[in-house]
Amino acid sequence: MSNATTKHDTLKTHIGLSVDRVDGVLKVTGRAVYAYEQTANDPVVFGYILGAGIARGRIRAIDTTRASAAPGVLHVMTYRNAPAQPAFGPPVMPKVPEVFTRPRPVLSTDRIRYYDEPVALVLAETFEAARGAAGLVKVDYESEAGAYDLSTHLADAYRPERTNAGFQTDSKIGDFDAAFTAGEVKLDTVYTTPYEHHNPMEPHATLAVWSGDEVTIYTGAQTLANFRAGIAATLQIPPEKIRIVSPFVGGGFGSKLIVHPDTILAALAARELKRPVKMALTRQQMFANAGHRAKMIHSVRLSANAEGQLSGISHDVCAATSRFEEFCEQSAVFVRSLYAAPNRVTRHRLVGLDTNRGEWMRSPGEAPGMLAFECAVDELADKLGIDPIELRIRNEPAVDPERNIPFSTRNLVACMEEGARRFGWAQRTAKPGLTREGGTLIGMGMAAAIRPNYIGATAARVRMDRDGKVDVQLDMTDIGTGTYTILTQIAATSLGLPLSAIRVQLGDSRFPRTAGSGGSWGAASSGSAVHNACESLKQDIVRIAGEAQGSPFYGSDTAQVNFANGEIRIGDHSEKLAEVIGHIAPEGLEAQGAVEAAGDNYRNYSQHAYGAHFVEVAVSIDTAEIRLRRMLSVIGAGRILNPKTARSQIIGGMTWGIGAALMEESVLDPRNGCFVNHDLAEYHVPVNADVPDLDVVFLEEPDRRANVLGIKGIGELGVCGAGAAVANAIFNATGIRVREFPITLDKILPILAAQMSTTNGS
Ligand code: MOS
Repeated sequence: MSNATTKHDTLKTHIGLSVDRVDGVLKVTGRAVYAYEQTANDPVVFGYILGAGIARGRIRAIDTTRASAAPGVLHVMTYRNAPAQPAFGPPVMPKVPEVFTRPRPVLSTDRIRYYDEPVALVLAETFEAARGAAGLVKVDYESEAGAYDLSTHLADAYRPERTNAGFQTDSKIGDFDAAFTAGEVKLDTVYTTPYEHHNPMEPHATLAVWSGDEVTIYTGAQTLANFRAGIAATLQIPPEKIRIVSPFVGGGFGSKLIVHPDTILAALAARELKRPVKMALTRQQMFANAGHRAKMIHSVRLSANAEGQLSGISHDVCAATSRFEEFCEQSAVFVRSLYAAPNRVTRHRLVGLDTNRGEWMRSPGEAPGMLAFECAVDELADKLGIDPIELRIRNEPAVDPERNIPFSTRNLVACMEEGARRFGWAQRTAKPGLTREGGTLIGMGMAAAIRPNYIGATAARVRMDRDGKVDVQLDMTDIGTGTYTILTQIAATSLGLPLSAIRVQLGDSRFPRTAGSGGSWGAASSGSAVHNACESLKQDIVRIAGEAQGSPFYGSDTAQVNFANGEIRIGDHSEKLAEVIGHIAPEGLEAQGAVEAAGDNYRNYSQHAYGAHFVEVAVSIDTAEIRLRRMLSVIGAGRILNPKTARSQIIGGMTWGIGAALMEESVLDPRNGCFVNHDLAEYHVPVNADVPDLDVVFLEEPDRRANVLGIKGIGELGVCGAGAAVANAIFNATGIRVREFPITLDKILPILAAQMSTTNGS
């Protein structure tokens, strides 16, 4: 760290401090404007989508007469009168850029591909009128038998071309089968992870406003460029004619990476009616129309010698997807970098069903994959009689085991050891089912976390006005993560200004293009671009100031000049930055900065963020009720920009882990392909009473190879492995291993009851 810190010492003013959210007051006072609250100059038309009542078949007849005649109704759009759109295209997963930019036609054919697919759009003067009239549309379906159940269609599994994010579908190193056959201790186990839905508080909503041949789309988007491209491709208009505005987003979690029917239909309808159109998906419609995590079957096989040295690792995932468009979550890809073993296999297979496809959902790949795999590692530790942390340490790789390149930084072992010390892991009884407190069984579990670190092509603009106030502009989004705040900190630090001098403006496609919020790359990409833009602005200031003969800055270069405390200093001479700007650039000064997509440091170094989760649970002997008592996550994610917003990201992820372990499951009715528990009453997520005090510790380790700021993504890291730590704690408490998530108490109680009667009888 020695010579690396020197450069960054000059940056530390605001970076690394727990700065409160700069947009916090706007949000808690209701002045942060979200998509559905946006307004237009002309009276707004409200749209309401009618979804299909079957999952596979076609519309034989659709009668909109009564709906069209209902009070306030302006227009009813169906496949018969909707504007022409391009065909959807082939079902195979397109290459990385196209997956975000392909046309996504809605109401374009009589085919029904999934339950609740839009079949009509009612447009009316009020939301209520539109919704009421939607109930008057009469659809006569020709239903066809569909396939809805992954487990009964495994014979149809196929090998996709690639996984999400462009990874190879399979990997194979050495001879796994031989190693497994010869293994002294082995595990051959199957886990299932269920359908899950991300449920951002803000539903998917759009206000579309046309002016001539240009449209402004107010919506909740994670990545503006994707929305722009998706609308352009579907409406067949140039992207330059589309402006996306998304200053505040009420949660995304991957469900707002691309356009969904609300956006396409609002844009089409507003053009048709020549009036602004506003619409939102209902909570129920979100379950069918805005992505989900697919159901998966994970076969995990591990072999080791008696000392716990792994000889073979195999993780084989078969996931549900859609017949009409693939999504192959990269659920075994993390295994390629996690533990050492000479013989290894990872595989992804898909089964196409008559549902919508899964999409990106917080930590695609690791979230379901680690839920299974990190439990399997715990199972192996139990079989070996080796502490699960010790087992992981014995298999810590020196280099990336499949890419055979060094890690940029990797502090998984440090996370586990620090966590063990803080959590009191030494007090854990290795043999399960032995720790009893009153009517409960107590257990401790842990699991590792790994999540790749990315960077995406991103640009930013900074503008300093004559008073030294700075506008930072980029089409990045803040999806609740704290982007406004960290970018304020980065700009203020670089320019040596107070936070109050910086105004960050996000979420407008008129600003420089960014990689947006997704894949945990937001902070690294946009932070680096803002930093570079500010550095460029400083160079311009020094250059222009240095051009004036007689100026104390004459002929100086940036390295000699220090920007701090609102001043610009060379040697003993300092001046207020605002005065210098007022003098050299009375019109203000603007600069751009950018970062490129993953380069050599990404090819030559395996980059990940790491963590270790620790959980203590109490399981009621009488009811099998599972209560979390404590949870700690120790996180190694490079340099931490803001411990407060970073902690919020991690505890959000930990809470998702609790949900994945214990509650979350979207139940797909195998008879008709409908997600039956499609609301927040029936789709259970952890509430405050389910979540104990969560402790987060950061082990800071700036990663010079990641980016100029030494930071790594954390938005998705918290969920990776978190659910496995909960499951492993339940095993330690009860001796019961539930391999079908979520671990609801009905899966524990009968076994527990049988165990107890045996114990009592002996
Ligand atoms: Mo994330 S699931 O890439 O928003």
